[in-house]
Amino acid sequence: MTIRRLPPDLINRIAAGEVVERPASVVKELMENALDAGARRIEIQAEGGGLARILVADDGGGLGAEELTLAIQRHATSKLAPGPDGDYDLLRIDTLGFRGEALPSIGSVARLTITARARGSEGAFAIMVEGGATAAPIPAGFPGPHGARVEVRDLFYATPARLKFMKSARAEDMAIAEAVKRQALADATVAFHLDLDGRRTLRLPAEAEGPEGRLARIAAVLGRDFADNALTLDQTRDGIRLAGHAALPTYSRGGASHQYLFVNGRAVRDRLLQGALRAAYADVLARDRHPAAVLFLDLDPVLVDVNVHPAKAEVRFRDPALARGLIIGALRHALAGAGHRASSTVGGQALGHFRPESLPQGASAAGFSAWRAGGWTAPSGDLPGLNGVSARPEPWEAPWQASVPATHAVPTAPFFHTEVRVEAETADFPLGAARAQLHGAYIVAQTRDGIVIVDQHAAHERLVYEDMKAQMAKGEVTRQALLLPEVVELDPAEAERLCARADDLAALGLSLEPFGAGAVLVRETPALLGETDVAGLVRDIADDLAENDAPLILGERLAQVCSTMACHGSVRAGRRLQAAEMDALLRAMEATPLSGQCNHGRPTYVELKLADIERLFGRR
Ligand SMILES: Nc1ncnc2c1ncn2[C@@H]1O[C@H](COP(=O)(O)OP(=O)(O)O)[C@@H](O)[C@H]1O
Ligand SMILES: [Mg+2]
Repeated sequence: MTIRRLPPDLINRIAAGEVVERPASVVKELMENALDAGARRIEIQAEGGGLARILVADDGGGLGAEELTLAIQRHATSKLAPGPDGDYDLLRIDTLGFRGEALPSIGSVARLTITARARGSEGAFAIMVEGGATAAPIPAGFPGPHGARVEVRDLFYATPARLKFMKSARAEDMAIAEAVKRQALADATVAFHLDLDGRRTLRLPAEAEGPEGRLARIAAVLGRDFADNALTLDQTRDGIRLAGHAALPTYSRGGASHQYLFVNGRAVRDRLLQGALRAAYADVLARDRHPAAVLFLDLDPVLVDVNVHPAKAEVRFRDPALARGLIIGALRHALAGAGHRASSTVGGQALGHFRPESLPQGASAAGFSAWRAGGWTAPSGDLPGLNGVSARPEPWEAPWQASVPATHAVPTAPFFHTEVRVEAETADFPLGAARAQLHGAYIVAQTRDGIVIVDQHAAHERLVYEDMKAQMAKGEVTRQALLLPEVVELDPAEAERLCARADDLAALGLSLEPFGAGAVLVRETPALLGETDVAGLVRDIADDLAENDAPLILGERLAQVCSTMACHGSVRAGRRLQAAEMDALLRAMEATPLSGQCNHGRPTYVELKLADIERLFGRR
């Protein structure tokens, strides 16, 4: 066996394998260098998905001839310096770069040219690296007073195997744009411009320092909608500051792509932070929905190790529980403070469904008459809570007085026994006065300046859930004994998992015990749920426990079970409600935290302002 020292060029190519995964990683490294050099404006161009050419130009401090020669050498950096004791401190890093690896790595797998002019110097220089071979710097022209232009051609030409892994140029373009957006969110005071194949794709002017500038940048990058539906956070605890914006639960997404997390200005994809974000919203979002947020954690650099990942995308906290606790605490606080506010886009989308111009594509006179005839239901979009609100004109339903025969009364869930004084003039309440129930599922209420449509099942589910949590926190969940204990058949593993949790479930008001190999016997259920489908409830909880088995901490798991229970205890769609019940539900919603959305993040109500309705009818 022969042990060899590898040639430097090969070492660089090996490092490039980690640092330069795809064109977007080149863009990321070059933007970081520009920012570290104090750039106020960064111009990015990419052609052929970045594989043909990438250019990143900045107006930072620039480099001189000698620095250019050093910059392309491995482990050469201006960002680490020995302290008074001659030691290097890897824990006090306040720059984005520090490894001295990006430029030599890029130069080993592509044709790299850096043209730069150092601040205060007369001339500019250029240096070239091709597949690891360097030439001496030569005098060159430079457009500005100082800065650097880094051009990368034929990326991966020196490592054809890597080229094979590249996705389509379009996919690489998207990854590049994403990298620029991410960095632009972190540095709102710097202007970013991105051209893809000569087309201007992003134009982000420099914003003012401070939270307003940051919000303006967020709106420019993620859209006005996000900014309009975001809660502002700013909290400091034990030397860690969490600032930023998180969207209302009703503005959730199908994927985690709208989550931007920064630690000391560095974009990170950190499992711990993502988990904390998830946990903070666990109460208000279904498991397949993802919160949207732009969050900045700032802390003393010694409390976080950034040197744990070659592309610096992950970090390690000295006290992970502290960071996690801060995120969960601050977000929950902000979400609770948002009260029953639901995403503003919800009402807007509802209006969109009402508007004639939202008829399906190609809707013509024929389509319109089909619509009139009731043959067309509004597209539901991704808001399941709106499914039942159809644009189809229904025969006018009489107000509740007429539509609810006295004999139709159904045993009410215990919630409705709660004393809620209903004023004569209820229109002054935020959710107004109940006027009618439509389709046995929606409550229509009149407010001072508009109408509110409430999804009764979603709203009640949230109320039951909050009630259960309150009871649980006090350690006094009221139970009701079943007249006849019920046997629920499950598979043996499920039954075992449930019984292993029997104590926790009992604390939630659900008493069960093993009953042979594949069944449990249920004796008591939480009183809050009223009369409930015991078997369905137990099966859903078994599913919860199966899915969440290992990773969730106990509290979160219980919250999940609570949420499942609440869903079972809610007034199902289809139940007729009395006028007083409807008003009681509205008043309770106003008094309940987070009542703007059900436990799955669907809105519980939409509000249409009179002004909007007038606009619908062309009165404005
Ligand atoms: N755009 C730039 N403007 C000024 N100096 C730069 C620029 N890009 C790179 N440099 C210099 O080149 C050095 C090496 O860059 P790099 O290989 O990315 O390593 P690192 O950023 O980790 O130091 C940097 O430390 C910096 O001094
Ligand atoms: Mg760098």
